[in-house]
Amino acid sequence: MIRGHISRITGPVVIASGMTGSKMYDVVKVGREGLNGEIIRLEGDQAVVQVYEDTSGLIVGEPVENTELPLSVELGPGLLSSIYDGIQRPLPALAESSGSFIARGISVPGLDRKKGWSFMPVVKPGAEVKGGDTIGTVMEFHIEHRILVPPNISGRVKEIQEGEFTIEEPVAEMEDGAKLSLMQKWPVRIGRPYQRKMDPDTPLITGQRVFDTMFPVSKGGTAMIPGGFGTGKTVAEQTLAKWADTQIVVYIGCGERGNEMTDVLAEFPELLDPRTKLPLIQRTVLIANTSNMPVAAREASIYTGITIAEYYRDMGYDVSLMADSTSRWGEALREVSGRLEEMPGEEGYPAYLATRLAAFYERAGRVICLGSEGRKGSITVVGAVSPPGGDFSEPITQNTLRIAGTFWALDTSLAYRRHFPSVNWIRSYSLYLDSIQPWYLTAGYKDWKEVRARAMYLLQKEVELQEIVQLVGPDALPESEKAILEVARMLREDFLQQSAFHDVDSYCPLEKQYWMLRVILSFFDRLNQAMNKGVPLRKILSLPIKAEIGRMKELEDPKRIQSMMEEIDQSILALEAER
Ligand SMILES: Nc1ncnc2c1ncn2[C@@H]1O[C@H](COP(=O)(O)OP(=O)(O)OP(=O)(O)O)[C@@H](O)[C@H]1O
Ligand SMILES: [Mg+2]
Repeated sequence: MIRGHISRITGPVVIASGMTGSKMYDVVKVGREGLNGEIIRLEGDQAVVQVYEDTSGLIVGEPVENTELPLSVELGPGLLSSIYDGIQRPLPALAESSGSFIARGISVPGLDRKKGWSFMPVVKPGAEVKGGDTIGTVMEFHIEHRILVPPNISGRVKEIQEGEFTIEEPVAEMEDGAKLSLMQKWPVRIGRPYQRKMDPDTPLITGQRVFDTMFPVSKGGTAMIPGGFGTGKTVAEQTLAKWADTQIVVYIGCGERGNEMTDVLAEFPELLDPRTKLPLIQRTVLIANTSNMPVAAREASIYTGITIAEYYRDMGYDVSLMADSTSRWGEALREVSGRLEEMPGEEGYPAYLATRLAAFYERAGRVICLGSEGRKGSITVVGAVSPPGGDFSEPITQNTLRIAGTFWALDTSLAYRRHFPSVNWIRSYSLYLDSIQPWYLTAGYKDWKEVRARAMYLLQKEVELQEIVQLVGPDALPESEKAILEVARMLREDFLQQSAFHDVDSYCPLEKQYWMLRVILSFFDRLNQAMNKGVPLRKILSLPIKAEIGRMKELEDPKRIQSMMEEIDQSILALEAER
């Protein structure tokens, strides 16, 4: 065993001497308490270790032991509904063994060693299998947990048994003697392999109008949510975790305030999945590394999370990964880099910030999984970014912008006016619009693209007109342009605004989104026709149907909304007839 001693301590970084033989990213136990750490640089016999626990009280000369294993996560049944810290230690178990202040140097395995799982083989002895093939299943709540051959193993199955097993007991043996159990381990810094990536042609349906209709993200795509203090990043991440149409959610609370995470922890077990009506927590893995927890573990939490996401992707599931906030992760990189006395890049962030961010988002994607079944799985990554002072020119926002396919720019002034979600419709964009267009066609929304484009046009036109209004006052505008302002306001208030806390409105099915938009646009069209026939704008705007459009959000039945098209027509016809 490689055993050295501490020669220097600077914050979360410890330098250990006498570590000859160590490899990069080996996990080490630091000091008499055996704090968990990872080697991030090697120089001569010295190893630079980032320590995932509080280093105060460590003394120079204390031992450092190298486990000679890379930082890994345990993958197997029991992940779902777990709450982990940044290095996959279950928080409830940590609290149990040390009280509410987590003691140091505790090693608790990520998966329960004692729990039995009922394993049902799907292959027989003699079957030829390779990495990624399913050998059997275990029910993890209502999710079929597929037990896969680890990527580096292949050959003929000698023995395989049905029955109840703990995660460590072998369930199958290969002819070459390799034993397979319900658990496998994987180093977090290496992406799990797949056959190939597919094009982003399927949208992730989130039930949020401004996302699905205006700035969609594809399944397997990447989205960023930058926004200043209190603009709604956490609410957006949580709303997506609840409603996005993925089977599995990995939620990483990274460096945010403890109380925000407490909200998640308290709320999730109560929430029901809108589709299955089963508790949401049963398809969720939570990783909590709040601002009061050690900074280096924040850096690891992102990797722990994405590796777990990849594991469920490999089973053929759609997974969404929420990271709140990637800025706190970047700050952890900056802090550690500063301690290493590396040459600082922009705003003190390390020069490799951009590559690290890219490498993380690169692990998103919709793929053909490893194995002969040709399963498809996806990971959609949604990263919140908290730019200081809401200034998007800072490095984390700028570097993420180059990578993320969808940009949901949260706006302080919208949040201040309580327009939620505070997504700025002028600054935001989605690069997936064209690639997912065929999906909307086959789903029966033939004019989805045109409808969306018309709405966007009116919203953009509103900005121009508002500039004029500010210069010369509203009376200077012709009636037709006043009408645009009115309809743009309807788009903002009756369509884009969506309360995350309203019983009905918090989730808006795609069909409803589509008809809501069609209704507003058809009101605009009929209004213009009527004005051309001499009906005054004021009269049209005071029609009861306009107020009814304002209440569309609260209606549950999309057919009811669709029928409003007819009502608009009728009430405007009546006005026209009065002339
Ligand atoms: N979709 C929404 N519907 C209704 N209210 C919302 C919505 N989004 C945000 N809010 C309101 O804005 C408040 C702040 O949101 P949130 O905590 O998500 O902001 P944040 O950007 O995460 O802030 P911080 O920078 O402090 O992390 C919420 O408590 C809620 O009142
Ligand atoms: Mg927040």
